[in-house]
Amino acid sequence: MKVPVGVLASGSGTNLQAILDRCADPAYPARVACVVVNRKGAGALERARRAGVPARFVSHRERPREAFEAELVAALREHGVRWVALAGFMRLLGPTFLDAFPGRVLNIHPALLPAFPGLHAQARAHARGVRVAGATVHLVDAGTDTGPIVAQAAVPVRQEDDAEALAARILAAEHRLYPMALRWAVEGRLRVEGRRVRVDLPPGEQTWIWAP
Ligand code: GRF
Repeated sequence: MKVPVGVLASGSGTNLQAILDRCADPAYPARVACVVVNRKGAGALERARRAGVPARFVSHRERPREAFEAELVAALREHGVRWVALAGFMRLLGPTFLDAFPGRVLNIHPALLPAFPGLHAQARAHARGVRVAGATVHLVDAGTDTGPIVAQAAVPVRQEDDAEALAARILAAEHRLYPMALRWAVEGRLRVEGRRVRVDLPPGEQTWIWAP
C-alpha cells in the first residue's frame, strides 16, 4: 500500500512533477493524494490535474493565518494524507499546521543549509562566490529553513555560470533529491536526534548526492 502524501506548492511545480513521476512507479512507496496551491495561477495546479490528482486552491489572503492553515489541514485530511511535502510553497507554516502533522512535513530549499536560508538563495550564493552550491531537504519547523536536515545535493559552481545557470543546475539536482528523501520519510527511515536526522539508509544510498 502506497503512503498518501500531500504536496503544497505556490509556483510552477517542477518538484511536484518530479515526485509525481516517481510515484508512477508501482515500486515507489508513496502516492500524491492531493495537491494544494495558494496561488491561482500556480503551474502546480495544472500538473496535478494532468496526473489525475485532486488539486485545490486555498487562499491565504485577507484572513488570519490560523484559518488558512486549518483549511490546508482539512483539505489534506480529507485525502488521508500521512506526510506533507512542501514544494516551492511560499508561506511560513505555524502550529495550526505543524501540530496536525508532527514531524511529518518536508521542505526543499535551493541551498546547502544552514547557508542561505530564505528567498533568492541561489542568486545570493552566486553573488557570494561560493564554489559548491546545492539543495537541502529538511523537516519543517516553525523557522525559515531551520528544521533538521534530511538530505543534501551538492552542485559545482562553474566560472561561466550566471545566477540563472546556477539556479537551473540546482533545480535539476532538487528533482533527484526530493523523491529520494520523500521515499525514506514514508518508509519510516528518519529518526530525529536533536537537530540531526539519522537515516536508516537503503543499500547503496547516501544522505547526499553530487549532481554536477
Ligand atoms: C525550488 O527551487 C525549491 O527549492 C524552492 O522553490 C522552488 C520551487 O520550484 N523551495 P518548483 O515550483 O518546484 O519548480
